[in-house]
Amino acid sequence: MAIKKVPVKKIGVIERYQEFLPVSEKTPIISLNEGNTPLILAEALHHELGLKTIRIYFKFEGLNPTGSFKDRGMTMAVSKALEEGAKAIMCASTGNTAAAAAAYAARSGLKCAVLIPEGKIAKGKLLQAYRYGAKVVMIQGNFDQALELVKEATSQYPIKLVNSINPFRIEGQKTAAFEICDDLGDAPEYHAIPVGNAGNITAYWRGYKEYRKGNRIETLPKMLGFQAAGSAPIVHNRVIEKPETIATAIRIGNPASWKHALEARDESGGLIDMVTDEEITWAYRFIAEREGIFAEPASAAAVAGMVKLARKNYFEKGARIVCTLTGSGLKDPDFAMSFEDKVASVAPTLSEVMKVIGNQ
Ligand code: F0G
Repeated sequence: MAIKKVPVKKIGVIERYQEFLPVSEKTPIISLNEGNTPLILAEALHHELGLKTIRIYFKFEGLNPTGSFKDRGMTMAVSKALEEGAKAIMCASTGNTAAAAAAYAARSGLKCAVLIPEGKIAKGKLLQAYRYGAKVVMIQGNFDQALELVKEATSQYPIKLVNSINPFRIEGQKTAAFEICDDLGDAPEYHAIPVGNAGNITAYWRGYKEYRKGNRIETLPKMLGFQAAGSAPIVHNRVIEKPETIATAIRIGNPASWKHALEARDESGGLIDMVTDEEITWAYRFIAEREGIFAEPASAAAVAGMVKLARKNYFEKGARIVCTLTGSGLKDPDFAMSFEDKVASVAPTLSEVMKVIGNQ
């Protein structure tokens, strides 16, 4: 029997949402069919928190082509860089931006250089940047210092900066808000999101506002941003010189989009709070072990923040909360394996195997 051939429809976020994006027929679209990620209704978390009428949804961005939400912004930034005649791109990164920049550069033929904080980047992200063929430079310093260097380099050399201070990054990333509204039929009442360099909270808020302006939705969500306690400059209202957290993706002490994050918070009537590494770790394990969703520690910061608010009865009855899970758990194998419950190694006999798994 002949296997039926199904035509492959190539569609990423630029094609899908072009009417909301600064593109034209002249823009060469560099896409890996990013976006269209699932909105997954929580199960165990509702029981755990005793929530009866509230619904929590996970927007699982770990299922993008390079395993994080950065692909949405990078398809735009790289397409526009190419349209503008650039030959090379550059970014500072805690890992995911580097992976996405390297992948889209590979696809477009642009050269790519990434600056990362030495020793503070998850292994999966580092190997992605290498294997996609970027020039990877480790900085003996943190993300904030790396970003300063990238700003300097790109102002002096003909290299395009593709961090989220590049406005096209935010434009691409706002499409996640569109997808959520398309799936729910309206905006949720609350949106929880981790905050690092603060580009993504800026992007979502812009997306929701533009969808309302375009009459696609009637209401706007309250934006709830969460920083890690050791890296919470916005919460403390001061630059953190030596940010620390196990959630290395958001280990940032001086966010580039600080002002826009405050606007998102204040215009939406939301908040920006912080969560401890312990709370992040609890949420990280809970969504993996009880919901079957493996997201990276930074993503779990948003879950931890939402849990903290739910325990204080912050959410009103009937509310829908969307929580963005920004990246895949596969990115950070070292953290995943850092717990007591490591894999057992035994002799190849049934009795030894049963000793480990117990009489189930
Ligand atoms: N979650 C993950 C998995 C991230 O990689 C980042 C940022 C964030 C959340 C925070 O998003 O910066 O827009 O507030 N990662 C950047 C990077 C900094 O270099 O990959 P933000």
